[in-house]
Amino acid sequence: MPKAPPLRLGVNVDHVATLRNARGGRHPDPVRAALVAIEAGADGITAHLREDRRHIRDEDMARLKAEIDKPLNFEMAATDEMLRIALATAPRAVCLVPERRQEVTTEGGLDVIGQHNSLKPFIARLNDAGIRVSLFIAADPRQIEMAAELRAPVIEIHTGAWCDAVVADEAAKAEAEFARIVNGARLARAAGLEVHAGHGLDYGTAEKIAALPEIVELNIGHFMIGEAVFANLTEVVRAMRAAMDLGRSLAPVS
Ligand code: PXP
Repeated sequence: MPKAPPLRLGVNVDHVATLRNARGGRHPDPVRAALVAIEAGADGITAHLREDRRHIRDEDMARLKAEIDKPLNFEMAATDEMLRIALATAPRAVCLVPERRQEVTTEGGLDVIGQHNSLKPFIARLNDAGIRVSLFIAADPRQIEMAAELRAPVIEIHTGAWCDAVVADEAAKAEAEFARIVNGARLARAAGLEVHAGHGLDYGTAEKIAALPEIVELNIGHFMIGEAVFANLTEVVRAMRAAMDLGRSLAPVS
C-alpha cells in the first residue's frame, strides 16, 4: 500500500518573544527556543513579524535566519515594509497572513478573492526571489481556487475555528469545521497546491489532522510554548533550589 507523505512540524516561536518582551530584556530568547525545537525534531521554524512588533522583532528574524539550520517560515502581512524585510532576509518560505492591529492573534484567513489585485504582483515578487509563498486561508473552496489562480504554490488552512469548537466541546460545530478542512485539503491538493495547516492545534487536534494525507506541514506555536512551562517547571524549580542551596552553603555563619 502506498504510504502518506511525511508530515513536517514547523514550530512557531512567537510566544517565547511575547514572554521576553513582558520584561523587555533578552530572556527567554526565541532563537534559543528555535534551536531547542530543532534538536527535539522540528522540521522548521515559523515566526510572525507583526506590524506592531508585539512579539518577534526585526533582529529576531535576522538571527533566526543566521543561526538555525532548518527552513525558516516568515509569517507576515502583505505590506511593502514586510516585502522589503522578507526579500532582505531571504527565508525559505513566506506565509502571508491577514493582520489587524487590534486582534489578539490571527483571527481569520486571508481574503485572497478580495485582495486578488494587490496579491498577484506581491506573490510574483516572492516567487521570483525563490521564496516559497503560502497563503493562510480558510478552507473555503472559492478562496482555495483563487489561491491556485494567484500562483501561490502552498496554502495553509486556518484550523482556528475547528480547534476552538473542539476546546469548547461544541461537537456538531467541530465536526462541520473538520469536514470543511477535509474537503478543502482535498480540493487544494487536486488543484496542485501543497497543503499546510495551523492555528490553535494541540496534541489531540494535531493527532486527528495528521491523518489527512493531503496535509504535509503543521505550524504550531501557542499550545506548545504553554505546555513547555509545565513540562519543565519541575526541573527549573529544582535547579533554582540547588543554586540557592549551594550559595547558602558558602555563606558565613551569622
Ligand atoms: N500558522 C499561522 C499562519 C499563524 O498565523 C499562526 C499563529 O501565529 C500559527 C500557524 C500558529 O498558531 P498557534 O500559535 O495557535 O499554534
